[in-house]
Amino acid sequence: MGQRGTLWWHAHILWLRATVYGAIVIMPKEGRMFPFPQPHGEIKIILGYVETLVNQANKLGLPPPTSDSHTINGKPGPLLPCSSKHTFSMEVEAGKTYLLRIINAALNDELFFATAGHNMTVVEIDAVYTKPFTTRVILIAPGQTTNVLIKADQPQSRYFMAARPFMDAPVPVDNKTVTAILHYKGIPNTVLPSMPKLPAPNNTNVALRYNNRLRSLNTPQSPAKVPLKVDHHLCQNGTQLTASLNNITFVMPKVGLLQAHYFHIKGVFKTDFPDRPPVPFNYTGVPLTVNLGTSLGTRLSKLAVFNLVDPPERNTVGVPTGGWTAIRFRADNPGVWFMHCHLELHTMWGLKMAFVVENGMSPEESIIPPPKDLPLC
Ligand SMILES: *[C@@H]1O[C@H](CO)[C@@H](O)[C@H](O)[C@H]1NC(C)=O
Ligand SMILES: *[C@@H]1O[C@H](CO)[C@@H](O)[C@H](O)[C@H]1NC(C)=O
Ligand SMILES: *[C@@H]1O[C@H](CO)[C@@H](O)[C@H](O)[C@H]1NC(C)=O
Ligand SMILES: *[C@@H]1O[C@H](CO)[C@@H](O)[C@H](O)[C@H]1NC(C)=O
Ligand SMILES: *[C@@H]1O[C@H](CO)[C@@H](O)[C@H](O)[C@H]1NC(C)=O
Ligand SMILES: *[C@@H]1O[C@H](CO)[C@@H](O)[C@H](O)[C@H]1NC(C)=O
Repeated sequence: MGQRGTLWWHAHILWLRATVYGAIVIMPKEGRMFPFPQPHGEIKIILGYVETLVNQANKLGLPPPTSDSHTINGKPGPLLPCSSKHTFSMEVEAGKTYLLRIINAALNDELFFATAGHNMTVVEIDAVYTKPFTTRVILIAPGQTTNVLIKADQPQSRYFMAARPFMDAPVPVDNKTVTAILHYKGIPNTVLPSMPKLPAPNNTNVALRYNNRLRSLNTPQSPAKVPLKVDHHLCQNGTQLTASLNNITFVMPKVGLLQAHYFHIKGVFKTDFPDRPPVPFNYTGVPLTVNLGTSLGTRLSKLAVFNLVDPPERNTVGVPTGGWTAIRFRADNPGVWFMHCHLELHTMWGLKMAFVVENGMSPEESIIPPPKDLPLC
């Protein structure tokens, strides 16, 4: 309801979402302008991932090897072998401003994305307007979308747009760089594009600084509507590699959860998900002790102060390695909603659960029946 912006649709059975996906772009209501300078043109940039060995790895019970390459709009770009013809190129006119709708559809990697010589102005994340800010590089997690404005105000030439993973834990990632080209109109294809400087794959500071700059626009037209009263607390410890939430590993049912809920089919799911993990998160405990390396000394413990005015509102959040994230949401959409890790590797291992949002009082607050022509499996 009331949504507009860039969203991502994708399959959620096994690893089908590696290729079964696309962009949903909801334009503002007629007569409504963007709350930023109207762009001259719009381009969708979908960052993807090529994975060929999942089935083989699954059979062996192993994680699949890292991706063979990332892609921009399905193309890996000229830095990767056997790909000279497979490069996405976008033509721009000098002096004009463009809106890039960037989607991370890669299965397992948060990505840094930058364009050589050009800053970007972030204006929207996950279909929610942000307070605009200018940055050289963005960070985008799988499932997230980011809209940026980019102005073709540099010497007319060809410039690489490039992406590479952010990974600050000691696990292997495909750290090769995928590229596309920002091409000023009239410049011949023979001009060698310049390359942007991307942060090192383990550059946590850039990642944290970027995420800290995200703020909801929070104007009368686009209010942040942060829930101030919390009715139900839920605490999760998703830090274990065994992939569970509150010590429950999700088992994929044979019947759709929404179907089971709507038709009251018994035995598909239980609603006794524990609100708390068996071992509580100790904010003053393990990580601090490890960092200080001593039990002596004067220790103060800093408690989080939440931004309840204009926090970023989004449907996917990148949780820092070994860290935590607090989220609030209003249960205002009846149905069954998956909450899961968006690194497909972890989803596969059971790092997921679902919320049942019961119907409200009126038909408008109730789930609608499945369409008559819903295909049967
Ligand atoms: C990009 O932004 C930085 C920091 O605001 C600024 O120093 C730099 O000149 C800008 N670059 C371009 C090409 O506009
Ligand atoms: C990328 O990975 C390769 C092989 O694992 C490694 O040799 C190289 O240093 C890495 N590059 C970066 C920028 O981390
Ligand atoms: C990041 O990786 C580089 C080499 O790949 C290493 O020299 C550096 O110490 C790492 N930085 C951090 C903060 O781990
Ligand atoms: C987690 O669940 C398993 C299986 O039910 C159980 O054996 C284990 O004791 C639980 N862990 C904790 C910390 O409660
Ligand atoms: C998460 O739970 C596991 C076991 O259930 C425990 O060993 C670990 O310390 C917990 N982590 C945090 C940060 O609480
Ligand atoms: C948290 O960790 C600190 C330091 O290790 C310890 O003193 C404290 O008792 C722990 N709190 C809980 C609730 O376990």
